[in-house]
Amino acid sequence: MHRPIGMFDSGFGGLTVARALMDLVPAEDLVYIGDTGRYPYGSKPLPEVQSYSHELARSLVKDFDVKAIVVACNTATAAGLDQIRAELPVPIIDVVEPGARSLVKATRSGRVGVIGTVGTVSSGAYVQAVARTGAPVHLVSAACPGFVEFVERGQTVGDEVTVLAERLLAPIRDANVDALLLGCTHYPFLARTISDVLGTGVTLVSSADETAFVARDRLAELGLLRAEAGVGTHRFLSSGDIELFRELGGRLLGAELARTERWPLRTNLV
Ligand code: DGL
Repeated sequence: MHRPIGMFDSGFGGLTVARALMDLVPAEDLVYIGDTGRYPYGSKPLPEVQSYSHELARSLVKDFDVKAIVVACNTATAAGLDQIRAELPVPIIDVVEPGARSLVKATRSGRVGVIGTVGTVSSGAYVQAVARTGAPVHLVSAACPGFVEFVERGQTVGDEVTVLAERLLAPIRDANVDALLLGCTHYPFLARTISDVLGTGVTLVSSADETAFVARDRLAELGLLRAEAGVGTHRFLSSGDIELFRELGGRLLGAELARTERWPLRTNLV
């Protein structure tokens, strides 16, 4: 009996990580929960985000018997995963460490930037993760409130999002970085706008691919990687508007989202 890999995010953002994982290990079964009923996470107090992510992680283990969890959300990672790492009997893979590693690999000048939600940037999670890489880089961070809301509305290009991007990315442009980490899993959907604003001299780094590699290697180390070839089953669940998740998720990730199921919000899973 094969056990799936579990993933969660506040909404559609983690689909960027799901895509990378589905492409890298296509035979694996996947269960993805988008907590659209309670998004956005980035503007909420971190203890509240932590309680949501614990609930989602516990549900993935108890209700879906996952063999590993990929926390496809920077804000949930920034809010703290120590408790679920200690409590749950499965490996927990996050997006922050892989993102920081990709960022320091991508720079030539040593001047790097990270953008994320207010929660992620104010937590200092990336400052710490980049410091842990030991790379001698100068890091500039900027929070981008409003970006996630555009993605969740399916508005990834256009004047409104460009005007906001011009304003929020000004400190990054002024800092003369040559590599920018999209430290929120929603932001790759805005890559075209971000790149137009910053110019082609700035390499945009997403943690999705590196996280998928980390997940694959970790599963292989633990003997949990599915050996046979083939295409796994991919299940998508949402705590919010199912029709929206099907429609917008389908546009952002693909036809698999047509079968999105409901993940019921509960509070007493423990
Ligand atoms: N996608 C999430 C992240 O990576 C957060 C989005 C939100 O604010 O809900 O931080």
